[in-house]
Amino acid sequence: MRFDVVTLFPEQFRILSGAGVIARALGRDIATLAIWNPRDFASDAQRTVDDRPYGGGPGMVMKVEPLRAAIDSARAAAVRAGCTSRVAYLSPQGHRLTQADMVRIAAAPGWILLTGRYEGVDERLIETQVDEEWSIGDYVLSGGELAAMVVMDAVIRLLPGALGHADSAAQDSYGDGLLDCPHYTRPELVDGLGVPAVLLSGDHAAIERWRHQQALGRTWQRRPDLLRARGLTADEQALLDEFMRGRGGTAVEREPRT
Ligand SMILES: C[S@@+](CC[C@H](N)C(=O)[O-])C[C@H]1O[C@@H](n2cnc3c(N)ncnc32)[C@H](O)[C@@H]1O
Repeated sequence: MRFDVVTLFPEQFRILSGAGVIARALGRDIATLAIWNPRDFASDAQRTVDDRPYGGGPGMVMKVEPLRAAIDSARAAAVRAGCTSRVAYLSPQGHRLTQADMVRIAAAPGWILLTGRYEGVDERLIETQVDEEWSIGDYVLSGGELAAMVVMDAVIRLLPGALGHADSAAQDSYGDGLLDCPHYTRPELVDGLGVPAVLLSGDHAAIERWRHQQALGRTWQRRPDLLRARGLTADEQALLDEFMRGRGGTAVEREPRT
């Protein structure tokens, strides 16, 4: 999979190739990253990429021409590499991304990620060059670089071969519409707290059942909206009922915590 990122701060993306899962995936060409700096496409000696907003007001707006030229070059490079990429603008006004979106994004051959700064980019660039607008949450960052890196991290770890264990992404939170179960490691006793006995039993079927029940219970406690959207099989409802009874309530008696 190919990412082309349009950014005024190319050096920020070094963090991706520093260490960990994403660095390994980039090192093994599971994903590739090319960076395009709009300043390199500015036509004046000062390499101007922004200007004052029409109508006045605070802040600067990123200009169309250098951004469009950077996107054009990214598109051409992607095509030369045999990849047709759509353009996504990272924006607090975009569609708020979920894990399901990350799965969809990961299925595409490539993306050109446009990162804004200042007050954002000239609206006409969005109208003519951008296919999708993505937000990473209902808050405002000072630039789109971190947002682009968040998306790249969430997407690249889904690509085949990126994670050491083939199943790990599916077992993570949201993988099958549930939050993940709790995890424990050595030592067996920490500050007087032990490990659930079933995890020490060696009974793999019982461990599997416990983990699934914990995932259902956690999702019910913390994100009942996910459970409502996903629905439960009869077996899962029975597991959840048992989880709830263990905490002094039943499915019918107790409302999920919000
Ligand atoms: C200071 S923000 C501009 C905010 C813009 N004036 C607004 O209120 O919608 C600068 C850049 O940060 C990025 N950005 C900020 N918050 C974001 C978010 N929640 N998700 C994705 N990108 C974001 C965008 O690329 C944006 O162009």
